[in-house]
Amino acid sequence: MLITLNEFTRRLGEDAGALDAVENHIVVGDCAEALRHMPDSSVDLIHTSPPYNIDKDYKGNHKDRKALDAYLCFLQAVIDELKRVLKPHGSLFWQTGYTQVQNGTAGDILPIDIVTYPFFRNPPNQMILWDRIIWRYFGGLAFKRKYTNKHETILWYVKPDGYEANPHFDVDSVRERSRELDKRNNFWGRNPGNVWEVDRVAFGTTEQSSHIAVYPEEIAEKIIRATSKAGQLVLDPFSGSGTTPKVARSLGRRWLGIEISPEYARESVRRIGFQQPNETAALCSAVVKSKAFGGRPGTLPIEEAGRRIRIWAKSVDLAGSKRLLSTASRKSLPKDAKPEVWESFERIFDNGTGDPVVEADALLTADYKNRRNLNGVRRYQTALHLLQAVHASVSSATDQDLAALLAQLAANEPSSFRIVRGSIRLAAADKRLKPPVRGNGQTPSAPGGRQDLKLQAKEYQPALLPDD
Ligand SMILES: C[S@@+](CC[C@H](N)C(=O)[O-])C[C@H]1O[C@@H](n2cnc3c(N)ncnc32)[C@H](O)[C@@H]1O
Repeated sequence: MLITLNEFTRRLGEDAGALDAVENHIVVGDCAEALRHMPDSSVDLIHTSPPYNIDKDYKGNHKDRKALDAYLCFLQAVIDELKRVLKPHGSLFWQTGYTQVQNGTAGDILPIDIVTYPFFRNPPNQMILWDRIIWRYFGGLAFKRKYTNKHETILWYVKPDGYEANPHFDVDSVRERSRELDKRNNFWGRNPGNVWEVDRVAFGTTEQSSHIAVYPEEIAEKIIRATSKAGQLVLDPFSGSGTTPKVARSLGRRWLGIEISPEYARESVRRIGFQQPNETAALCSAVVKSKAFGGRPGTLPIEEAGRRIRIWAKSVDLAGSKRLLSTASRKSLPKDAKPEVWESFERIFDNGTGDPVVEADALLTADYKNRRNLNGVRRYQTALHLLQAVHASVSSATDQDLAALLAQLAANEPSSFRIVRGSIRLAAADKRLKPPVRGNGQTPSAPGGRQDLKLQAKEYQPALLPDD
């Protein structure tokens, strides 16, 4: 999954620029250089956040502090390449905050989205600004002399084809629960709008890494689900801890990240190594962790792991859940009944009734954070659909099929699983890259703690591919 810039350019050169030789990799190097080797109109979606030039201590031997002119020149060169590699009708999400005006009055800030806007508008490959999203977050350090900053902007640009722009937008995949239970509202939820209230990545969460500017998976999920299709290529030229690549992988997209710091690049590969390549496989992996391993690290003979998930499959009866959903969502449902249905499904999730669909949903939210925003009926429908797929593949499988399934899960998720001499080993039941720190500064040694981290580090060290 990790590749040097030399190897990246060699592969692209060899294969007349075909991206399949380099996709699903993090390239370690300068994106301004790497992008130059990529073919025109080859990427379906870009979601990225550049360095802000505010002297952040990013790891590696580059400085996040250039003269303002040099910084803007660098961004312009990168943006020119991004516009070129994007396909017509493709979308580019440019997530930014502020940089500091230099050699002037302290506190004089420059919004990066505004100062880079002309670079997107200038020919060649003039983009249109399709939407302006505000990410409103909570937390952060309090300012003393002005209002504490609580937002970033995400500009959604589209590359038109001539005078037409027709970006892919599957709003149904990201509909959210409506505030008012008004019978005129869409049964499956409302368009989420362009102000997104999402918590910043907190220390001790599964998204935490040593990177200091991680954006939340929930944001990348909203973008990638709605504005790309399965199998399409998603690029992040400043991939940092690998949030965009990880989420793209989780949704069955092809992906490519570029990151200048070898340390972040390595860490991002390990983070992506916790991720199955689609939602059904992610649920299947979570079922193995919880039902075969009991949610704890350990080693099991493959046959025994298979036996345990088959026992789970036999204990799960989905007939009642299917009936419940089809009654609630039938075409002939009177409009007046909608609020009652919405409330009843929200209650199912609130009460955690022991319904296998609610349990599946809880397992899925580790990887798909945006699920929490869906309305109860949509949440139930999508979790049931995925659970049916996993249930069918486990309950009808032979011993051999189950062994193959476990081997596939392990190959997909090297940071969690390893197959050793007829056994499957679970290194850590959750996906933390760093152990959570207690209030007293101590690190717990229970699952997810220091012991697990050591185990994970031993289990999977991504190798940098050699130059030749
Ligand atoms: C704002 S952070 C991106 C964080 C990322 N979105 C995440 O969730 O982890 C910007 C990243 O760009 C990287 N970077 C800076 N200059 C670069 C360059 N010339 N080429 C590639 N990456 C670069 C930094 O090391 C940093 O990790």
